[in-house]
Amino acid sequence: MKIQQNANLAAYNTFGIAAKAELMFEIESEEDLLSVPAPRAERDLLLGGGSNILLLGDIEGNVLLNRIRGIALIDEDTDSVLIEVGAGENWHCLVSHALGQGWHGLENLALIPGLTGAAPIQNIGAYGVELAEVLESVTAWDWSSAQWVVFNNHQCELRYRDSIFKREPRDRYFITSFNLRLQREFAPRLDYAGLSERLGKKPASAQNVFDTVVALRQEKLPDPVVLGNAGSFFKNPLLDRSKAGDLLKTYPNLPHWPAANERIKFSAAALIDAAGLKGLTLGPAEVSRQHALVLVNRGGASGQEIWALAQQVQDRIYENFGVHLEPEPRIFPAPPSAKLTA
Ligand code: FAD
Ligand code: EPU
Repeated sequence: MKIQQNANLAAYNTFGIAAKAELMFEIESEEDLLSVPAPRAERDLLLGGGSNILLLGDIEGNVLLNRIRGIALIDEDTDSVLIEVGAGENWHCLVSHALGQGWHGLENLALIPGLTGAAPIQNIGAYGVELAEVLESVTAWDWSSAQWVVFNNHQCELRYRDSIFKREPRDRYFITSFNLRLQREFAPRLDYAGLSERLGKKPASAQNVFDTVVALRQEKLPDPVVLGNAGSFFKNPLLDRSKAGDLLKTYPNLPHWPAANERIKFSAAALIDAAGLKGLTLGPAEVSRQHALVLVNRGGASGQEIWALAQQVQDRIYENFGVHLEPEPRIFPAPPSAKLTA
């Protein structure tokens, strides 16, 4: 196991925040995991690819990097395969690998940054598909009871950008692997706006859907290698019917969709765009001009600057529309703010 002292985390978070950590452990096996000190709440941090985190400053503790690899076929039948995936695998490489093997179900989730172990944390989703649809079980080390635990899909309580892992004390569980059930036959999922239009006359093969999702994502979202960001900074708000009805009376053109539990999902990007906040800056932190839901680091931004800009956006959206936007990435350490539930 590699251990670095006074580690610079700039290359370990896609915002490119140059925070430091006292010690950084690269955990490559279950044995490594059992030899590191248990994380202390809001002091030490578990990290995969760092693509869904905003670091507010130096970490006065340890960073535990998950680098446990491996993809194995563990069961199969005529219709499907069951694979076990180490939590330190790169997500997009897993999607490409599955495509190459003829294992289907992940195509719409191509090009999501980060490592596999974080995927269940917010039940990653894109282009009309969520991890919940293919996840069979998650294996994790439970620091509080000092034992291995296995969660089946139901026990993970996967919802839109949410799971049990966000609701339990953060960092209680260190996910080491999960099992996915993938299908041999490809069933295209083209309901997300723009996907079938973009596919055009090409056959809806697995490869074409994968390529189309990759192309759409490359067009729509700023590349974190060029401009630091963590993807969508806010979740799309879920409003009850009466609140949604009131909002649509005043702003009938706001994009919205039916969601679970009779709620209506509104586009946070459209709200931010309609409020004229695209391009709003605070020092080197900016509301992306390319996609309103993304905050970018134009170079040298601190986590505090990005967080201050995010709060300005929250305040303006609340003043304009009476809607509270919840951050999607984890803010570390969690600021003492009632606005934070991510
Ligand atoms: P990290 O940022 O390292 O960690 C995220 C959280 O998970 C942290 O709280 C961390 O403590 C915890 N964690 C990480 N690994 C473990 C582990 N092994 N055990 C326990 N806890 C752990 N997300 C989507 O859902 N859909 C998208 O379409 C999407 N698009 C994106 C586009 C861009 C350009 C970017 C930068 C991000 C995007 N994201 C998207 C967000 C992000 O890629 C996902 O949330 C991804 O799953 C995060 O993986 P990570 O390894 O980088 O997690
Ligand atoms: N829009 C604007 N202005 C913009 C950008 C978009 O008005 O600057 C409008 C679009 O016109 C569209 C709507 O917003 O009507 C939705 O835009 P988009 O299709 O880009 O999706 P999104 O709601 O912004 C969500 C996810 C993304 C995921 C895409 C595709 C959340 C918080 N974000 O974005 O996930 O990739 O859908 O499924 O749910 C992430 O989680 O980091 C992420 C990037």
